[in-house]
Amino acid sequence: MSKKMKDFIDQVREIVKTGGTEEEMTARVAESLEPILDDPELLSADQLLVKKEGFTLNKVHIEPDESFSIGAGIWDVGQTTPIHDHGTWGVIGIYRGMENEESFLREGPRESGARVKLMPLGKRLAGPGDVFVCCTKDNDVHRVSCASSEPVVGIHVYGDDLAKLTRYKYEEATGEVKSFNTGWDYAKISA
Ligand SMILES: [Fe+2]
Repeated sequence: MSKKMKDFIDQVREIVKTGGTEEEMTARVAESLEPILDDPELLSADQLLVKKEGFTLNKVHIEPDESFSIGAGIWDVGQTTPIHDHGTWGVIGIYRGMENEESFLREGPRESGARVKLMPLGKRLAGPGDVFVCCTKDNDVHRVSCASSEPVVGIHVYGDDLAKLTRYKYEEATGEVKSFNTGWDYAKISA
């Protein structure tokens, strides 16, 4: 692991230990993430591998007490995620490529089988060096897509072990809610 990533993990650990509101913690994580995104050695070759099917979230670090986790999220050219939530706070910094993010406000229960109303909140285009807060409890629903002719690679920091959380995706036309779980991709399996 690169020195800058190691130092970043230490900084996130301190931020999480210090605590505060989700807005305060995500702002501090974003501030620490921004300066390391131009390091060409930040991710290992394994962490940059793209799965042949589905969306790639290569594990970078899971804090032993599961208070936060870090992954390399890679959307391949042409990929668009479903509209989905996270169930925890999250910060994303773009490392390579461009990402388009559409945010939604959900009106209705966060449970499988329910139907909710989704209201578009806005879009943003993010490129290398850009950092944004993807989710807090009150603003947790989005859809992201690769907006470049190369895969978009983002450093994703979440306030939990993302793979342990039950998450929900939302059908745009009907508002139908379905649960799903995310697994960490281990680069050697992805090869
Ligand atoms: Fe997401």
